[in-house]
Amino acid sequence: MFDLTGRTAFISGGGQGVGSGIAKALAAQGASVAVNDLFEERAAETVEAIASAGGKAVAVGFDVCDYDAVKSGIAKAESSLGPIDILVNNAGVPPGMGVTQFLETAPEEWRKFIDLNTYAVMNCAHVLVPGMSERGHGRVITISSGAGTVGIPLGVAAYGAGKGGGLSFMRHLAMETARSGVTANTVAIGLIDNHADPKITEHMAKGVPVGALGQPKDIAALVVYLASNEASWMTGQTLELNGGSVTT
Ligand SMILES: NC(=O)c1ccc[n+]([C@@H]2O[C@H](COP(=O)([O-])OP(=O)(O)OC[C@H]3O[C@@H](n4cnc5c(N)ncnc54)[C@H](O)[C@@H]3O)[C@@H](O)[C@H]2O)c1
Repeated sequence: MFDLTGRTAFISGGGQGVGSGIAKALAAQGASVAVNDLFEERAAETVEAIASAGGKAVAVGFDVCDYDAVKSGIAKAESSLGPIDILVNNAGVPPGMGVTQFLETAPEEWRKFIDLNTYAVMNCAHVLVPGMSERGHGRVITISSGAGTVGIPLGVAAYGAGKGGGLSFMRHLAMETARSGVTANTVAIGLIDNHADPKITEHMAKGVPVGALGQPKDIAALVVYLASNEASWMTGQTLELNGGSVTT
């Protein structure tokens, strides 16, 4: 089960954190992987880790918010790995993201969240789904957040708006592609352990019902399932993966 031999995947923002964990897990299941990141050197590190574990991967550095860059970057990835059948929209945190209450933000600060969490998902889907549909098989998986499914008072309103746009788009994409062998699902994740300071991690973990933050491998396991042949009857869904935090 969940064998991805012969499949090719593209992961945005795969240079670190959750995306890197997803790229490694897909490669471990047999997929060839195109690892994207805004910072190509980060993508190259993930590629190196995959290669040293015996997997096949290439690094493709570009900005997924830029439609033309997506088109040419994906063409480059496909020229070395072949047609892409699994798209993982993981990039979602713009560089330098902080938390600010909405009324204290200026309009020019909102766009980057919508660009990365809604437009970039649409850009990658628009470039990759036609080929998937033609071949009669494809998987689109978007990493969203609890911030896209419920309101929270932390100061991430614009980010939440972008996440909400992305997951709503995914539901429509799923309906438009349902008869062509292409599935589209979203994983809305909770807090992940990517904080350098163990005191912050410990403090944040107290608020999670299971008492621990998520690890990239927790997210990767669900993505492997969604990418697999076994998940062909799962589409149009937003799956919550968050250690039991009630978000819907
Ligand atoms: N970390 C959490 O606690 C958490 C919680 C909920 C949801 N998420 C979501 O999970 C996903 C991964 O989060 P993470 O914490 O691993 O992020 P991260 O910031 O650690 O890594 C994301 C990578 O994406 C890259 N990136 C950013 N903008 C890009 C762009 N325009 N084009 C290409 N690459 C770009 C960054 O360079 C970075 O290497 C995101 O969608 C995020 O919104 C994370």
